[in-house]
Amino acid sequence: MPKLKVARKKAAKKKTGSQRTKEMVDVMKQWQGIEREAIDTCTELMEKSDNLLVRQVMEIIRNDSVQHHRVQQFIIDSLTRTPVQLKPEDLAVIWDEIEKHDEAERKTIKLGKALAKDCPFFVQKTLIDYLIYDEQKHDKLLGELEKFKKNLYPYA
Ligand SMILES: [Fe+2]
Ligand SMILES: [Fe+2]
Repeated sequence: MPKLKVARKKAAKKKTGSQRTKEMVDVMKQWQGIEREAIDTCTELMEKSDNLLVRQVMEIIRNDSVQHHRVQQFIIDSLTRTPVQLKPEDLAVIWDEIEKHDEAERKTIKLGKALAKDCPFFVQKTLIDYLIYDEQKHDKLLGELEKFKKNLYPYA
């Protein structure tokens, strides 16, 4: 797999906005190339192995790679054609539901951790741990929205 080439910072010259945008888009496109290779590799490995755990792990990574590719495309589009802004009211109108949903995310983390702690089986524990990481990821994403909201409403 090709290594990711990240353009080095030039200490002497300050980058202009459009230079920075171009660099970000370039890196995103390289990364997308790696994701496309990952999708192919994982598909091949799934075909090569009869082991159900190996196949499940490869399927997880393949699906994640598809999702990563989509998010990278969103980032590229947001930089080049459709600017994305987050306004306070965008969060305000759905905030109660977001909080409720985040509570559900945290509940799944608790359930998963309790299960994993006592799980004596490698296969199941590995996949339960994976689910916990994913739920933590959801919780963290929503936490980022909350941080953003708090900056806008320092006294809330
Ligand atoms: Fe990825
Ligand atoms: Fe979740």
